[in-house]
Amino acid sequence: MIDTNTKDQNKTIKIACNCQRVTDNTGISEQNAIISAKDFSFFYGTKCGVSKINMNIQAGSVTAIIGPSGCGKSTFLRSINRINDLIANTHTEGVLSVGGQNIYDVNTNLVNLRQQVGMVFQRPNPFAKSIYDNITYGPKLQGIRNRATLDNLVEKCLQDAALWDEVKDDLHKSALALSGGQQQRLCIARTLATKPKVILMDEPCSALDPLATARIEDLILKLKGTYTIVIVTHNMQQAARVSDQTAFFCMGRLVEYDITEKLFTNPHEKETEDYITGRFG
Ligand SMILES: Nc1ncnc2c1ncn2[C@@H]1O[C@H](COP(=O)(O)OP(=O)(O)O)[C@@H](O)[C@H]1O
Ligand SMILES: [Mg+2]
Repeated sequence: MIDTNTKDQNKTIKIACNCQRVTDNTGISEQNAIISAKDFSFFYGTKCGVSKINMNIQAGSVTAIIGPSGCGKSTFLRSINRINDLIANTHTEGVLSVGGQNIYDVNTNLVNLRQQVGMVFQRPNPFAKSIYDNITYGPKLQGIRNRATLDNLVEKCLQDAALWDEVKDDLHKSALALSGGQQQRLCIARTLATKPKVILMDEPCSALDPLATARIEDLILKLKGTYTIVIVTHNMQQAARVSDQTAFFCMGRLVEYDITEKLFTNPHEKETEDYITGRFG
């Protein structure tokens, strides 16, 4: 965050972070990227949430975004399906492309964009409807009405989200009766139902216990390849376990972006090293 009213707590971070340049050792070219940011900045009024992000995200991979609280992880993630547009008085600079199209072009169809780029939030947020209706909600909006098609889709999405065996006899019961971990897998299944290319996850396990967390991590590994996953996590072990590439954000900037193993074992930037060794954040 670049803000003249920086709080005391953030001052330490500012001193620890001299984030003027980006180290990108991923070798991912724009041609190979499904998501590509070029000098992309996001502003809340005059306040800068992320500044001049340059980042190419590989199709079919899992990319983790880590960094101290308030460094712009969610801002960047939520920019990828323009859900931040719901906040008044925001604007962007630079380019953010998905599938080669600048999603901030005036003629971008937001319904199509959000169908292609699904999102899973920190707290599981199933609709207060049945398990079945949660999954068919998006497809029905897309005009799918055939009962057999919807039934097959429900089974396929629940299978893919590793939830089918647990709920197959309770499809018409309320989603709110499921455990937190099951609800989060249902939210993933609901996202899969609209056949996205990209799934954004903002700290998807922070409200879950270790067992439910492990199941979501297994699921992420299962889904990668078919889907491109971008996950914000405050848990560095989680980033190390599930991601192929990791981006370290600090004070609204991308500081270092590398193959996950390399970033955690041999970071290039001192700021990254200080963060991953627990010196700040
Ligand atoms: N709705 C908002 N209005 C104004 N400022 C915001 C809003 N959301 C986030 N910010 C600011 O943008 C910066 C980045 O926030 P965020 O992306 O939520 O960080 P992170 O996810 O890394 O914790 C923070 O300084 C935060 O206060
Ligand atoms: Mg956040």
